[in-house]
Amino acid sequence: MPRLNLLEETRFEKLPVSVFPDENTASRHVAQRIANLIKEKQANGQQAVLGLATGATPVKVYAELVRMHREEGLSFKNVVTFNLDEYYPMEPTAAQSYVTFMKEQLFNHVDIDMNNVNIPDGTLPLDKVAEYCLNYEQKIIASGGLDLQILGIGRTGHIGFNEPGSAPNSGTRLVTLNDLTRRDASRDFGGKNNVPVKAITMGIGTIFQARDIILMAWNKKKASIIKKAVEGEISSDVPATYLQLSDKVEFILDEEAASELTRFDTPWLVKDCVWDGQMTKKAVIWLANKLNKPILKLTLEDYNSNGMAQLATEFGPVYDINIDVFNKIQHTITGWPGGKPNADDSQRPERALPAKKRSIIFSPHPDDDVISMGGTFIRLADQGHEVHVAYQTSGNTAVWDEDALRFVEFAIDFGKSQNQDVQEMENLYQSMREFLKDKKPNQADTLEIRTVKGLIRKGEAIAGARFAGLPDEHIHFMDLPFYDKGKVQKVVDYEDDIVQTMELLKKVKPHQVFAAGDFADPHGTHKVCFDIILQALTRLRETEDWVADCWLWLYRGAWHEFEIYEIEMAVPLSPQEVERKRLAIFKHQSQKDRPVFPGDDAREFWVRAEDRTSETARAYNQLGFAEYEAIEAFVRWKFD
Ligand code: F6R
Repeated sequence: MPRLNLLEETRFEKLPVSVFPDENTASRHVAQRIANLIKEKQANGQQAVLGLATGATPVKVYAELVRMHREEGLSFKNVVTFNLDEYYPMEPTAAQSYVTFMKEQLFNHVDIDMNNVNIPDGTLPLDKVAEYCLNYEQKIIASGGLDLQILGIGRTGHIGFNEPGSAPNSGTRLVTLNDLTRRDASRDFGGKNNVPVKAITMGIGTIFQARDIILMAWNKKKASIIKKAVEGEISSDVPATYLQLSDKVEFILDEEAASELTRFDTPWLVKDCVWDGQMTKKAVIWLANKLNKPILKLTLEDYNSNGMAQLATEFGPVYDINIDVFNKIQHTITGWPGGKPNADDSQRPERALPAKKRSIIFSPHPDDDVISMGGTFIRLADQGHEVHVAYQTSGNTAVWDEDALRFVEFAIDFGKSQNQDVQEMENLYQSMREFLKDKKPNQADTLEIRTVKGLIRKGEAIAGARFAGLPDEHIHFMDLPFYDKGKVQKVVDYEDDIVQTMELLKKVKPHQVFAAGDFADPHGTHKVCFDIILQALTRLRETEDWVADCWLWLYRGAWHEFEIYEIEMAVPLSPQEVERKRLAIFKHQSQKDRPVFPGDDAREFWVRAEDRTSETARAYNQLGFAEYEAIEAFVRWKFD
């Protein structure tokens, strides 16, 4: 029986969804609900039985609970917890165990009785697991059942570790992890091969018995699975869809995770809209794509039969709307990413003046510049602008151990061939070999090894930037300190990085800054690198006049591209430029063939880059624009 939903706006949503502006606000709300439950139970002299989750999602909820404990006296004395899952096999003391996670995030900082804490045991022999799982279920029941279960959601749609294929009535059991789940965990384990293949998880049936269920999701990365979980058909392909059958569940999302829900993504399908320029552009592109028609061929009937009658009525005739949107998109296309000298720039993405601009391309890792905007990079240099590139981090984690050894061997052999004394270097080499022989998965390298790995990437970046046409003095290696600090410290402050970035900006005084604007990975290096640039520019705006004329352009990393309606500058590449860009990417030899961190994409970086730019070109072409070989896309950051 479908859930009765009287609100038009949420007509497509098959379970209750609350959307908060950001992760912080949403996490505080969830923490408050947990605190209320604990206090209510306390007042009645009862225990509060909580089902807890691990992963990135609940981190801020736990932090807020810890704050409430410290500052507001929230006590956990009456709290009993059952965690959803644990890897198998897994020692509780291992850095990646969920026991360690729960202690670090919550239990070590509150007054919970550790006898009341239950986390599936990853150390049991295989033949004891089934019985243990039954006991885990019985223990939950004996505690009075879960008062509240909190959940995250995996990109496979898993809840707990109930991967696609799980049954709705499943109980606690040993399961095999999905490949995507293991890839997502690979960063914690220093490579997918180190991620356990199995886990013990509460079942979907176990979760269902909770008296209250909250599923949380933050970030763009979760948007597409959230749409499936909330609006899709119930199916074992997306286990979270089973939650649609529960009348106790609520999804708590931030705006980004909710962004693909119909009411946000295509709001004209569920309600009357305020049609500003951006919404109109988005809707017209959506309509053209849906009907597989170029923009200028869309008719009134197309508008009316696809939920866009309001736009046609209020702003029609539709042909005028089509032409207006078409022109706006046409004006994003430019072969002059640094502005076209002596041309009317009123409809161009960049200013004509000054004709020769100073541009800095910030590259979070040593190859993002050429992978993500190599064609534009080459064009800017070809067109005579003063182009600088600033490599923000050394990228030293993403080099294979054997490559590091090979380079030191080279240095020793070269020294020997020149009759130099290489004894010290040989000693160092031996100690590196010793270290690498016993290196644990995800263990941080020694300083020397990190240095060698960083130098390998530095050499490649110089080769790439020179190939793109830069003189050596315009190639800057920032080696921002946060990158190495992050490997040993959990909490890092970015002050030194911001100051260093301000120094470079003050030296170059750029008219254009290009920065990687990837926000899908909230704690990822790209996001941190962007925040540092933004902070630096924001602070400099207070004191330096040139900053008012400095435009900040965002490009995207190797995986995702901006949506067509968002793009403000589209730089077409000729087949020859695509080829040159490919050769620039090839200079990054340590990242070729099989990089250390391939992410969830088996393609090599140059292939991803070419696929992505040719897809953008195809998308423009399908809307009725000229057919280009490839297009690199940019969005301009607007300062408040
Ligand atoms: C964690 C768990 C998983 C995670 C899910 C999302 O105990 O069972 O279902 O909730 O994989 O992980 P994050 O929050 O890291 O995105």
